[in-house]
Amino acid sequence: MERYIIAIDQGTTSSRAIIFDAAARIVSVGQLEHEQYFPHPGWVEHDPVQIWENVRRVVGAALAKAQLTRTDIAAVGITNQRETAIVWDRHTGVPVHRAIVWQDTRTQDAVDALAADGGVGRFRQQTGLPLATYFSASKVAWILDQVPGARARAEAGDLLFGTPDSWVLWNLTGGPGSGVHATDVTNASRTLLMDLETLDWDAGLLELFGIPASMMPVIRSSSEVYGSVHASQLLAGVPVAGILGDQQAATFGQAAFSAGGAKNTYGTGCFLVVNTGTQIVRSNNGLLTTLAYRLGDAAPVYALEGSVAVAGSLVQWLRDSLGMISSAAQVEELAAQVQDNGGVYIVPAFSGLFAPYWRPDARGVIVGLTRYANRCHIARAALEATAFQVREVLDAVNADAGVSMEELRVDGGMVANEALMQFQADILGVPVIRPKVTETTALGAAYAAGLAVGFWESLEQLGEQWEEEKRWEPAMEAAEARKLLRLWKKAVTRTFDWVD
Ligand code: G3P
Repeated sequence: MERYIIAIDQGTTSSRAIIFDAAARIVSVGQLEHEQYFPHPGWVEHDPVQIWENVRRVVGAALAKAQLTRTDIAAVGITNQRETAIVWDRHTGVPVHRAIVWQDTRTQDAVDALAADGGVGRFRQQTGLPLATYFSASKVAWILDQVPGARARAEAGDLLFGTPDSWVLWNLTGGPGSGVHATDVTNASRTLLMDLETLDWDAGLLELFGIPASMMPVIRSSSEVYGSVHASQLLAGVPVAGILGDQQAATFGQAAFSAGGAKNTYGTGCFLVVNTGTQIVRSNNGLLTTLAYRLGDAAPVYALEGSVAVAGSLVQWLRDSLGMISSAAQVEELAAQVQDNGGVYIVPAFSGLFAPYWRPDARGVIVGLTRYANRCHIARAALEATAFQVREVLDAVNADAGVSMEELRVDGGMVANEALMQFQADILGVPVIRPKVTETTALGAAYAAGLAVGFWESLEQLGEQWEEEKRWEPAMEAAEARKLLRLWKKAVTRTFDWVD
């Protein structure tokens, strides 16, 4: 009996496989972190081979823990870190370079050169995105330009490009010879190469970035059968039936199916997504216009997104690069030992600043230091940085929409941090709500796959499964919150114009 759905979540720091039952309860989880490579300041790379190996292993671990086999699984859903670019040989499956990760800023000069003619908004009409290193296009171009022989191989039709969803799908379905080379609309909408209206690659943009069309995956919906898992894999024969970029998956997993539905995910970065229905809304306030999902042949559903590059990764930086804490959880312990931030603000502009500023010239700062400040204040300032960034993105959403959001549904690793959630509600001035299942990213991918194979019937049925677990009401005096926010904004201005 096929009683379960398995979701593969290929994230920035780890790959996970989560098995869900029909009531959307988690049955088991497999998880493995992969190596982060920082070869130069601003560069971030992953090894695609390690990622694929980890995906196989976490699927095995999740099945083994639940004592299940492929015959118990109705479908596979894939969700993934978006924008990260992988280029590989279609005949051998060997990547020609490490994956260039979404946070990587090595292509800033190329992006600046393009922006010199028409500004960073020159492709907004077609793609919904500003010109930025964040998106895949300039990363693919970099690989073709810098890896000896790559451009000739690409032009001969020997190389394939994909974001991690495509890489996992192609390998799951058998790799060289039989691998399905596809992506879904949500991932395609993050490449800076897809037209938001036609939902197809834009020939002019491919040409401008020098990317042969033969490398590009086919753009499919987020919920349909793309192919079956290859006979050599543990999940042999199981249909792969859902693909959503991770932030869109979390929005889907939070049951934000209608216009106005929204969520904020606290992961490596922080991403607030608001469903705008079948309408394409173009932002005047630094948000991205992107795809929310498309179910089979139904009309595509769009979204506005506020992307913050650094949230949880600031805590990792305190742990791994500064050695200030030994575990991520310790940041909460330290922060709890002080009443306030002691005047210290950290603006983690490690990859420049994303929404709502889009300032590639920004670099991180710690300001407000006095001899009074200690590591507890730094820990607290690190957590508060996330909450302030979310507030600025929410303000942009409210300005674009013309109405204020009344509450915010949240998910992701950092929502376990109670102090952060309370501070978040205080700084936003609206309630913050955590659902029962906080693994919404994996759940969204499972939902998309389950809908495609009839495991679940309708969005209404899924909406009924969403349950609130906890809510935080704003408790801080409004004047105090305003003062903190004012100082934060001042700190942000100190990051600008740092790059020579
Ligand atoms: O746009 C980048 C995003 O998809 C990465 O998400 O959760 O891996 O930090 P996450």
